[in-house]
Amino acid sequence: MAAFGTGTDCVQAATTEPRALRRPLPAANHEAMARTLIAPSILAADFAKLGEEVRAAEAAGADMIHVDVMDGHFVPNISIGPAVVKAIKPHAKTPLDVHLMIAPVDPYIEAFAKAGADIITIHPEAGPHAHRTVQAVRAAGAKAGVSLNPGTPVEAIDNLIDDIDLVLIMTVNPGFGGQSFIEAGLKKIEAVRKRIDASGRDIILEVDGGVNEKTAPRCIDAGATALVAGTAVFGGDPSQYAANIARLRKTA
Ligand code: DX5
Ligand code: ZN
Repeated sequence: MAAFGTGTDCVQAATTEPRALRRPLPAANHEAMARTLIAPSILAADFAKLGEEVRAAEAAGADMIHVDVMDGHFVPNISIGPAVVKAIKPHAKTPLDVHLMIAPVDPYIEAFAKAGADIITIHPEAGPHAHRTVQAVRAAGAKAGVSLNPGTPVEAIDNLIDDIDLVLIMTVNPGFGGQSFIEAGLKKIEAVRKRIDASGRDIILEVDGGVNEKTAPRCIDAGATALVAGTAVFGGDPSQYAANIARLRKTA
């Protein structure tokens, strides 16, 4: 499998910074954040006109476009694959934030990177060797994210933190949009915030699931720097997206 490469490639991946991104990522440093990054999830967009939806979300103020990839195996729903990422890439000016809810994950990393994924976020449960998977993401030229499900302890990032660019805290069980926010996620955001600050690294702390105008400020107070939102952004027609996004940013 091309994504794995040889043993030598893997050693290089561990010691070499990832190749330059196609598009620079927004700054992630918590103190320096001028505003919270908003990553609309196209899972809630109109699939019959994804290009238009991506452009409308960016015109409305989106900082990244969140792409949920589901396989009907790791999660009980099937969404999209690399061909759709490739199709929307020319419509996106902001980074594509690709969330892989698939197992196995390693064989598909290169395909998603080639299709235009700027960030690739994986779940540690999706493969036997999470660190090797992170190495493969970086070797493919993308930024690496690790996602923690509601039932996954925060310790899962402890041995990965030096090699990742983003932590995604799931505040719903992955698989569907429109679910209710799981409150226990707030303590987990706080715990990951401490770990990121202690690491001194520039790591985006993103929250995904049930984010709306009520839960968003609580996530930000807990230490989140980026919010994924599907239903809360793509609700209504495109003329409402800017107001929808503005409501998610903390203005106080
Ligand atoms: C769930 C996905 C989410 C989902 C969020 O598995 O990872 O990104 O699209 O949808 P909302 O914002 O509607 O909860
Ligand atoms: Zn997601």
